[in-house]
Amino acid sequence: MITRQLGPFTVSATGFGCMNICHAYSERLSDAEAGKVLRAALDAGITHFDTAALYGFGQSETWVGEFLSAHRNEFTLASKCGMQGVDVDGSGKKVRVIDGRPETIKKTCEDALRRLKTDVIDLYYLHRWDKQVPIEESVGGLADLVSAGKIRAIGLSEVSSETLRKAHAVHPIAAVQTEYSLWTRNPEISVDATCRELGVALVAFSPVARGFLADSVRTADQFGPKDIRRGMPRFQPDNLEKNLALLPRYNAIAAEVGCTPAQLAIAWLLHQGAHIHPIPGTTRVAHVHENARADEVHLSADVLSRLDSLINQSTVTGNRYDAQAQSEVDTEFFA
Ligand SMILES: NC(=O)c1ccc[n+]([C@@H]2O[C@H](COP(=O)([O-])OP(=O)(O)OC[C@H]3O[C@@H](n4cnc5c(N)ncnc54)[C@H](OP(=O)(O)O)[C@@H]3O)[C@@H](O)[C@H]2O)c1
Repeated sequence: MITRQLGPFTVSATGFGCMNICHAYSERLSDAEAGKVLRAALDAGITHFDTAALYGFGQSETWVGEFLSAHRNEFTLASKCGMQGVDVDGSGKKVRVIDGRPETIKKTCEDALRRLKTDVIDLYYLHRWDKQVPIEESVGGLADLVSAGKIRAIGLSEVSSETLRKAHAVHPIAAVQTEYSLWTRNPEISVDATCRELGVALVAFSPVARGFLADSVRTADQFGPKDIRRGMPRFQPDNLEKNLALLPRYNAIAAEVGCTPAQLAIAWLLHQGAHIHPIPGTTRVAHVHENARADEVHLSADVLSRLDSLINQSTVTGNRYDAQAQSEVDTEFFA
């Protein structure tokens, strides 16, 4: 596979997102299924794995440790802190909590190292900026982890240019992770330019638009009870119907190029700059192989321009997040 520079690490151009094996769009995989998918990604040449304390409230990190730690020196390991499952009322039931205090970050890192069966996490992100805690304090906590040799590099997730600059002044930031795809262009407002200026990698999450650009969404009825797309504006029936109307022309471009719709979405990202790292997630081995080969797809200037005008913030209907989720992030967004 083609490689790219992610901070100090040389990684496969396309990484692997380890959220979906636990939660988000489908039911949690079995241990055996999760192991097969993770091993398939490694065997396909992927050398950038992205997980988080949040995913499955530790289950994703546990599986990465269980199935990949024997190959720890073959890939770059990224994980995240600052948002995790907490048993707030002592009932045994965990809920998602954003907490960016340095002491919480350090405790989360210790738990992660144990689950991941490793001594050091290569790239450790603050998953959300906790607006109760100055970003400088949270990054200071992460910088202490670098000094202690527990993590090698620091990343931020879903932040604005202003927050990135403040953080970068405390300690160099290796990567910003944020949603980026043809249908979510928010990074183009500002944070992408700031990443380029500061030499920060941009890790693009939800690169196939949570399945939409992979031609795997047909109707809002297909989402199971725990599928997070049920609450997302763009996947509400009226909006989805309008958005689906874009796909015949999009799929025709994929056919013309000679790739699949998912590969087209990933390839479009790879063509936006050498600092962009798409991290698609999947529960299926066949999709692992398909996505891993997106770096072989060359897009001409004409195709890039037609894609740009077909799917963008003006042609897509509905916000990417509802009001609650939007209030938890710090990203600039198209109103
Ligand atoms: N920092 C953050 O706040 C944040 C937020 C969200 C995600 N992330 C990270 O980004 C990763 C990827 O994002 P994501 O999972 O939200 O979105 P995504 O990768 O854009 O989409 C995943 C969805 O697309 C489907 N899919 C993937 N490849 C496919 C293919 N080749 N053909 C057909 N369907 C395909 C998957 O279904 P199948 O399982 O059926 O393939 C799944 O439903 C996550 O795993 C996580 O590591 C980070």
